[in-house]
Amino acid sequence: MLEESKIQTANIAEYRKDFPILSRQINNKPLVYFDNGATTQKPQVVIDAVSHYYEHLNANIHRGVHTLSQEITLAYEDARIKVQQHLNAAHSHEIIFTKGTTDAINLVAHSFGKKYFTSGDEILISAMEHHSNIIPWQQLCEEKGCELKVIPISDSGEILMDAFEELLTSKTKIVAITHVSNTLGTINPVKDMIACSHRKGIPVLIDGAQAVPHLAVDVQNLDADFYCFSAHKLFGPTGVGVLYGKEIFLNELPPYQTGGGVILSVDFQKTTFAPLPLKFEAGTPHIAGGIGLAAAIDYVNQIGLNNITTYEHYLLEHATNRLQEIEGVKIIGNANKKAAVISFIVDSCHPLDVGTLLDKQGIAVRTGHHCTQPLMKLLGIPGTVRASFAFYNTIDEIDVFAEALKKTIRLLK
Ligand code: ALA
Repeated sequence: MLEESKIQTANIAEYRKDFPILSRQINNKPLVYFDNGATTQKPQVVIDAVSHYYEHLNANIHRGVHTLSQEITLAYEDARIKVQQHLNAAHSHEIIFTKGTTDAINLVAHSFGKKYFTSGDEILISAMEHHSNIIPWQQLCEEKGCELKVIPISDSGEILMDAFEELLTSKTKIVAITHVSNTLGTINPVKDMIACSHRKGIPVLIDGAQAVPHLAVDVQNLDADFYCFSAHKLFGPTGVGVLYGKEIFLNELPPYQTGGGVILSVDFQKTTFAPLPLKFEAGTPHIAGGIGLAAAIDYVNQIGLNNITTYEHYLLEHATNRLQEIEGVKIIGNANKKAAVISFIVDSCHPLDVGTLLDKQGIAVRTGHHCTQPLMKLLGIPGTVRASFAFYNTIDEIDVFAEALKKTIRLLK
């Protein structure tokens, strides 16, 4: 593995040149961008694809007989096929373009909830969920009189599988779980969890926002019923994301939003809706976003997600070792299987102060509760400092970060 990582390391300098922003200086220091969990930087090919759309292809999709509209409709539908292939979905109409992961989860909570939920039903999530995979379900519970159940986690930040199995009952209508925790970095055993849920006939939604940039995802192999992710965390544009759903569910669900684009026919008495995927894509979508996402997928596939996983693991191991050397630093989240996300706290230093002083040294990290307030309460901490890596980060950057952190702690103590 180390050998492969070395090969990758040699290529990183070249890959970095693809990302214009990485040559920026912040506070007169070279930017060290470790906030990839919040959003990733964009390679020039993605920026160019978006500009090319506005410069040469701009028209609305699915609405025009004119050449521009037909060209961009084809390009947008090609982007859908690109996503289908990337996730290994069985059909391109199982790919719904959304505003992002949050929007995708809201879509399922709304439509699935409306169709299948009644009072007394239960929804099962885990203790490490992002607010986006808590609140839509909580709202549904309020509306329908359902109950939100929470799978506990171990001290190291892993799902307690026995407890999970016990919580799967005849009342459970859906399991909604993150693939990778944005705060702890834990890679959850979602394939096993899906198999376990399916044995009891319960469908599963996977929040893949933090997984898709780091791991190759095969929705058929996982047997996921729903899988969501955001383009901007995969080196693509903001404001666009994906809901994958099995055809059998998507066909049954009512539309989430209605308006232009979702219909077969409308009169003042009744509307009939379009088949998949358009039934779920009301209004003019983020066309440039879809085009940019396709370019991002091509870019990532040129490098290879398995290469990315291996290299990022190498970064994570190095960062873990460097942080463990620093007195007063405690890593939060020590699961056996982790993606390239490392959260930590520092004795008697507030995460916000640590983040602010790191920024003064050119280093971008995220601080706070990371939209996982229930998890923070469970851990009994106000927040963490989080460094989250992408394949364009380097061992040298981690060393710069470790030295900057030591200096920060000296200044704060
Ligand atoms: N969900 C994103 C994060 O973890 C914004 O930073």
